[in-house]
Amino acid sequence: MVVRSIAVIGSSWGDEGKGKVVDLLSGKADAVVRYQGGNNAGHTVVVNNEKYKFHLLPSGAIQNKEIIIGNGVVIDPEVLFREIEILESKGFTPNLVISSTAHVIFPFHRYLDGLEEATKKEYAAGTTKRGIGPTYSDKAARYGLRIYDLTEPDIFKPKFQRLFNLKKKVVQAIGADWPFNVEEIENQYLEYGRKLKKYMKDTTYYINKLLEQNKKIIFEGAQGTLLGIDHGMYPFGTSSITWAGGISAGAGVSPKKIDKIIGIIKAYTSRVGEGPVPTELGILSDSKKGDPIKENCVTDADIGHRIREQGHEYGTTTGRPRRVGWIDLVSLKYACILNAYDHLCITLLDAMGGLKEVKLCVKYKLDGEVSDQWPIQSEIIERCEPVYIKMPGWEALPAEKWTDIAAKGYNALPEAIRNYISKIEEILGIPLSIISIGPNRSDTIIRHNIW
Ligand code: GDP
Ligand code: IMO
Ligand code: MG
Repeated sequence: MVVRSIAVIGSSWGDEGKGKVVDLLSGKADAVVRYQGGNNAGHTVVVNNEKYKFHLLPSGAIQNKEIIIGNGVVIDPEVLFREIEILESKGFTPNLVISSTAHVIFPFHRYLDGLEEATKKEYAAGTTKRGIGPTYSDKAARYGLRIYDLTEPDIFKPKFQRLFNLKKKVVQAIGADWPFNVEEIENQYLEYGRKLKKYMKDTTYYINKLLEQNKKIIFEGAQGTLLGIDHGMYPFGTSSITWAGGISAGAGVSPKKIDKIIGIIKAYTSRVGEGPVPTELGILSDSKKGDPIKENCVTDADIGHRIREQGHEYGTTTGRPRRVGWIDLVSLKYACILNAYDHLCITLLDAMGGLKEVKLCVKYKLDGEVSDQWPIQSEIIERCEPVYIKMPGWEALPAEKWTDIAAKGYNALPEAIRNYISKIEEILGIPLSIISIGPNRSDTIIRHNIW
């Protein structure tokens, strides 16, 4: 089978290493498409120890591939132009296409994000405060503005003023300040519109045409399956469809045209933001960034700290420390069923080095009953107790050693890692075809051909 399109999907709560894998696979691609989310995403690519962070632009940019932002993405133009400038300053010329129907984030969406979070109390998700939820809300309510609107002043002004006045009234009704000036934003966004014109296309026709011409496309997921609006842990997630089902709606491509779906899983669990994480190791206040790692980690807090430090688990977008936990095969099995992955990629195995023993959560226990079904409802998940199996851990090694192992291939991996991989494959029933043991593009072992 000729593979024309591949999807790269996060299987958990985001930050699984999607950016690294998209960059790696885009060597053989013609174009990379982002189709949901916005600059709540933070995707890191490391090549020869040089780090690139993407929030809006697809991670194929540094392989000089065509990069496409589909209709399902919400765009903060300020962030977009900053990201383009950063890339240009590093010597790249982004070959960028943007959907005319992608929705636009305004400054008051970011402001509303904070106000709305404050009213949610124990149900606040701990958002990135980038205005994602409020912008998708306006899209669904059909008040939102799209990229096209910014490029046509006569269409823009009445639509914008209607939205501005509505938001102003709502904010003032709850007794909060309204620190925005209508003309200032209008002028700024019309200027963005002038600059956006050259990138704007009907991406549905455009992407389908590329596929017809047998061009190879990667669909780059943002966030992760458990953060999705319908199938994730509502309301502790984001506002877009984060599993593979989101590609069709967010890029205008039939499900029949997605040839392969790759799920990215982490060797452990990480979560930035709120909501229950059944396998969580200790709490964030147990340690601070840079605290020494204990040689012999026994308590959950010590193990969690080791993994957080070794995996540099501090958010790409907000810098927040990420919560970490043991691998959760109950939620991963759910992601595998939902996405029907062809392959899995496991990342950050190196970051778990230095533990005598590692645990894998294989079932949840609730009110005396044991099940391997993910309960969906956050209130139920909160009450679940993980059931673990234990396996021997592996050594902590310096980064160069992991790079050497990657160059030598699969059999050079420590035996304990190979056993860990086999156990996960056995439980999830999907081949772990890409093994990632370091942040660099080269710190990767490909066991089965993907393209
Ligand atoms: P994304 O949002 O899924 O693209 O993931 P992020 O980029 O937010 O977070 C993943 C982090 O882990 C980044 O800092 C990557 O550079 C890094 N990373 C990816 N794979 C590996 C790996 O196998 N080992 C290590 N040590 N770091 C990795
Ligand atoms: P990438 O693509 C990890 C989380 C936030 C919060 C919830 C809602 O880098 O994997 P939002 O700002 O979207 O309204 O926040 O979702 N979140 C992420 N967590 N990685 C991400 O993206 C995330 N994008 C959103 O922390 O709990
Ligand atoms: Mg990230």
